[in-house]
Amino acid sequence: MQSFTSFFKRKILRNNRDRWNYQYDKGLWDGLKGLDELARFSVIVGYIKYLKPGQPEILEIGCGEGLLQQRLQTQNYGRFVGMDIADSAIQTAQALADEKCTYLVADMDLYQPSGQFDIIVFNESIYYSKHPLKTLQRYATYLKANGLLIVTINNHKHSDELWDSIKGGFELLDEATTVTSKSTCVCNVLLPKETVDD
Ligand SMILES: C[S@@+](CC[C@H](N)C(=O)[O-])C[C@H]1O[C@@H](n2cnc3c(N)ncnc32)[C@H](O)[C@@H]1O
Repeated sequence: MQSFTSFFKRKILRNNRDRWNYQYDKGLWDGLKGLDELARFSVIVGYIKYLKPGQPEILEIGCGEGLLQQRLQTQNYGRFVGMDIADSAIQTAQALADEKCTYLVADMDLYQPSGQFDIIVFNESIYYSKHPLKTLQRYATYLKANGLLIVTINNHKHSDELWDSIKGGFELLDEATTVTSKSTCVCNVLLPKETVDD
């Protein structure tokens, strides 16, 4: 039975999108809604409200079931575009969305957003890009003047390496770390290098 499960996982769910859909359908990501995940969402919500008050246009890459938009609340954005590779997660996000939201299914390594944004968020999702730094730099071209990226990464054995590579390509505006019973999560607010005054 175990070898069948392993075969199923390796061969049948070989496609990235199918794997994520399977995991969402099985409820394997329900933990993201938990109290022990609230801190990292709250830090992002705080940064958005402080740095871009009013009606910012926000793009979230790898948005899952739309938890960030739900925690941010409708009065704090003018437009919210969320994308994720998992159709199943996007269906859930859409069901809870308001008229200022657009949710769509796409692969972050291929997706080309329409329009420009005040803030682009990668909340626990940049690991899934094949080329994290290049991906962040490509998305940064969709920022408005003075726009910013917000990236969170849960601490794991390669996270320092990943941050070093990301920080080489951006200017760090601010950093906050949340520690819960479950995990330690680092959040960076990044500016494209060329927008920083010398
Ligand atoms: C750890 S979950 C985080 C979800 C959400 N941002 C949150 O914090 O609750 C990672 C998300 O990235 C999505 N993802 C993985 N690979 C992706 C890709 N290539 N393109 C777009 N989304 C992807 C997954 O479907 C999943 O929803």
